[in-house]
Amino acid sequence: MSASPYYVTTPIYYVNDRPHIGHAYTTLACDVLARFKRLEGHEVHFLTGTDEHGQKVEKSARAAGVETQNFTDEVSQNFRRLADDMNYSNDDFIRTTEARHIHAAQAIWRRIQANGHIYLGSYSGWYAVRDEAFYAEGELEETDDGRKVGPSGAEVEWVEEPSYFFDLSKWQQPLLDFYAANPDFIGPDTRRNEVISFVEGGLRDLSISRTSFTWGIPVPDDSDHIMYVWLDALTNYITAVGYPDENNSDYLKFWPADLHMVGKDIVRFHAVYWPAFLMAANLAPPKRVYAHGWLLNKGEKMSKSLGNVVLPEDLIERYGLDPVRYYLLREVPFGSDGYISHETMVSRINGDLANDIGNLAQRSLSMVAKNCDSMVPQPGPFTSDDKALLSAAVAALDSIREEFNRQAFHRGLEVIWRVVSDANRYVDSQAPWELRKSDPSRMGTVLYVLAETIRHLAILIQPVMPDSAADMLDQLNVPGEARSFVNLGPDHALKAGTTLPKPRPVFPRFVDEEVTDSA
Ligand code: ME8
Ligand code: MG
Repeated sequence: MSASPYYVTTPIYYVNDRPHIGHAYTTLACDVLARFKRLEGHEVHFLTGTDEHGQKVEKSARAAGVETQNFTDEVSQNFRRLADDMNYSNDDFIRTTEARHIHAAQAIWRRIQANGHIYLGSYSGWYAVRDEAFYAEGELEETDDGRKVGPSGAEVEWVEEPSYFFDLSKWQQPLLDFYAANPDFIGPDTRRNEVISFVEGGLRDLSISRTSFTWGIPVPDDSDHIMYVWLDALTNYITAVGYPDENNSDYLKFWPADLHMVGKDIVRFHAVYWPAFLMAANLAPPKRVYAHGWLLNKGEKMSKSLGNVVLPEDLIERYGLDPVRYYLLREVPFGSDGYISHETMVSRINGDLANDIGNLAQRSLSMVAKNCDSMVPQPGPFTSDDKALLSAAVAALDSIREEFNRQAFHRGLEVIWRVVSDANRYVDSQAPWELRKSDPSRMGTVLYVLAETIRHLAILIQPVMPDSAADMLDQLNVPGEARSFVNLGPDHALKAGTTLPKPRPVFPRFVDEEVTDSA
């Protein structure tokens, strides 16, 4: 397997409030890819962090009555804690208030300026603080109560101030050429089409500095201006690999990034502005931007600004971490909007996890414990049924990879659960409990095939449910260094005679607390 580098990033989140399940969702998807790629032998760099400058953050700090830097320190810490709570395997956590980032952001500004793509002018137009975005008059709508809002529903305000501009209008054709030459640059297709028609509609030069407040990175050589927070924020992706030192080994290895994972709300910044900034600085654009859908709560996008959020720590406490990780990526087709609910959560936990994979492992390993002296049994010759199940387990990896590489996590999980169903059908049809007396050696073979299948399943679910997978692999006595994808297949099969610990259930059923109020 190739050890080629793989660089995946999350958006850096605004520190305007506590993290919610929407943020957890994006970073989870990246974590699963990072873990998957590591198990394939890639050298992975997985970056997340916080976006700490701009008017939105400054406003939140003021509302909280806390000095802005202290406010960002505090809220940023909540996102770090989220990474622990969710068991993310990020290699770095970047904050845009760090010196390394301020240095990189000023450096890319100078590069773009030296290349002749920045000019001084003055901006008059609409700005939405909630989105930190400039909108054209034509993009605005009026609400029932007469307020002007941007396409996201965020309120806009009129801004008139001196400003530096980036000559975005000149990048229309280069961007369209770039999209045409790189058909995988934006996923899914609906988002790609949306971006292309936006760019085809013409681009206006972009205001990239502000003068009406100060919480940001000073424009080089003109500290009356601070950099537009999106130019600042997007640059985090190269800061983290050592920019402006382009000879740095991380930069050489990891840039251009393999994937910027984002929500569909910020696709324009990532798929239009960012590649244009990079091209203007003679830097390579990232290889892919994937914009997933929204987790919805009562029909609205969950958002800090709207205050209708589900907190990850509440879900984890109630359902357990790995079930939550599984549910989020299995329930909602990745790329689409979707609802999360208690009912569908319980149905996934009790169906897919407790009944399907949990029960498979528990009953198979209990039979090994009881009937084989707690040792991996010695298999006899394999029948065609045995071979069919084992080869389905091995073949799953290629299909999962294909699905994960296009960010179809729900489909990758379906592939795994097809093997789970095959294995459950196999148990029922082979009925090893009946073989105990009639044909003990055949029973040994059947239980061996089951244990081997469970080993494959456990290795394959590691990216999504790392702790539960580890628990299953411990129960099969698979050493830590034999849990990578190269260990799939017959060459690394379980050895007959290996002693196994006492089996214990990995995926308990969720039982609703008794309803106490009498109706
Ligand atoms: O936009 N469902 O930060 P942000 C799914 N700082 N994902 C959701 C979600 C929901 N209901 N709500 C939020 C910013 N997200 C900028 C990014 S990057 C250089 C700068 C996720 O705190 C989703 O990934 O508003 C979305 O794009 C991101 O959080 C926005 O986070
Ligand atoms: Mg937002």
